[in-house]
Order: sequence, then structure tokens, then C-alpha cells
Amino acid sequence: MKEIYKYICIIAVAAVFVSCNDDPKKPGYEYMPDMYRSPSYETNSMNPLFPDSMTERQPVAGTVARGNDVYTSFDRLPYPYAGDSLGYETAGKELHNPLEKTADNMTEGIRLYKNYCGECHGDKGMGDGPVTQHNGPKPPAYSSDQLKNLPEGKAFHTTQYGKNNMGSYASQLTASQRWEIIRYVQTMQHPDGTSAATDSTKKKITASK
Ligand code: HEC
Repeated sequence: MKEIYKYICIIAVAAVFVSCNDDPKKPGYEYMPDMYRSPSYETNSMNPLFPDSMTERQPVAGTVARGNDVYTSFDRLPYPYAGDSLGYETAGKELHNPLEKTADNMTEGIRLYKNYCGECHGDKGMGDGPVTQHNGPKPPAYSSDQLKNLPEGKAFHTTQYGKNNMGSYASQLTASQRWEIIRYVQTMQHPDGTSAATDSTKKKITASK
């Protein structure tokens, strides 16, 4: 029995000496290497399985981000109409303001309008903002024959893609902010408060009577 212990001790001491070496680049033997080196790919590592060699994959086309309650759900949905005249006409027929007609939405709409639109369209929507007095583009008044019956879907479409001398606001204002502004624009289409041909909420109320 004592002999066996002696041999075990000799082997153990020998193993200690043999398992170390002076070369810092050689790690020596690894017991169960899978425990040190996971076979799965790291997030940012090269990946031979995909043609673009990236492990981190893009979400599939059409994916809609979720989970940030700063945005309402429709702010995150892709805008469904193309930026051409067919898209403009279709938006005019199908697209309606999804926001409730509340005092809060109106107050915010007025604030945003003054910051983003009034410099051209003028505070009262007469198309006489300060930019127009310095050779800037002159928009028609909202209450003009050209715009007084403009459907809200077309107005929104114009804030999405822009129109002639007016640029797109899609990257500066969320969809809900633009709808808040359009609520205010509608009051300027009919400053006497008479008609709301372009106002979907009013229409819905009339229809349900
Ligand atoms: C740089 C000046 C400028 C700014 C800023 C501007 N607009 Fe305009 N807007 C115009 C001009 C010019 C037109 C006329 C476009 C045309 O029909 O040729 C126009 C047209 C419009 C129309 C009529 C669109 C249609 O379908 O005929 C709406 C509605 C409108 N603007 C809303 C807005 C809103 C809302 C904002 C702010 C988010 C805004 N505009 C900011 C210059 C501007």
C-alpha cells in the first residue's frame, strides 16, 4: 500500500513540474475547454455562417419597435402611403386624425405650430410669417380657397414628405405631434368656426347622431 502512495506522490510532483512552462503564449493543457471557451458566437464577433460575417443580426424588414411609452403606438408604425401623387390622394381619403380632440392636444398643437410652422405660415395661418418677408416661400393662407377644404389626411401627408417649397417634418416631429398641429391648422382653415369639412372628429359625431 505504501508503495502505491509513493508512486502517486511521484506522479503528482512530476505533473506539477510538467504542466508549467516558460512560454507565456502557451496556456498549457485545458481540462474541458468548452467550459473556458463557449462554442457560441459573441455578439460582436466574426461569424462564418452569414455572408456578411456579422453575428449580430438586423431585425427582419417591417419590424416595429415596441416598449417606449413616450411614443403612442401609431408613432412607431411605418407610414403606409408613398410620397407621390397617388399616395397623397389616398392619404386624403383614408387617413384621419387618431388623437382625441382635447384642450391639451390643442394647446400643444398651438405651441408646436408656433415653433415649427408659423415662421412661414404666420401665427394666424395667413401665409405671412417672417420668412415670407425675406424672400422665403409664400404659402397660401389656410383659409384660402386652395386650402380651406384640404382634407386632414393630405395635410398630414404634406408634413410627412413635404410639398414643393415646404420640407418634410417627419424627422423633427412625431406623428402625434403633427396631428396635434393639424388640429390647430383646422381651426385656421375655418377661422369663423362655421364648418369642419376637414375635421374627422366632428364628422364622426355628426354621423353617430
Ligand atoms: C419654409 C416655410 C414653411 C414651413 C416652415 C412650413 N410650411 Fe407648410 N407650406 C409651405 C409652402 C410654401 C406651402 C405651399 C406648398 C405648395 O402647395 O406648393 C405649404 C403648404 C402647407 C400645407 C398645404 C399642403 C397641401 O397639401 O396643399 C399644409 C397643411 C402645411 N403647409 C402645413 C404646415 C405645417 C403643419 C408646418 C409645420 C410643421 C408647416 N407647414 C411648415 C411652407 C412652409
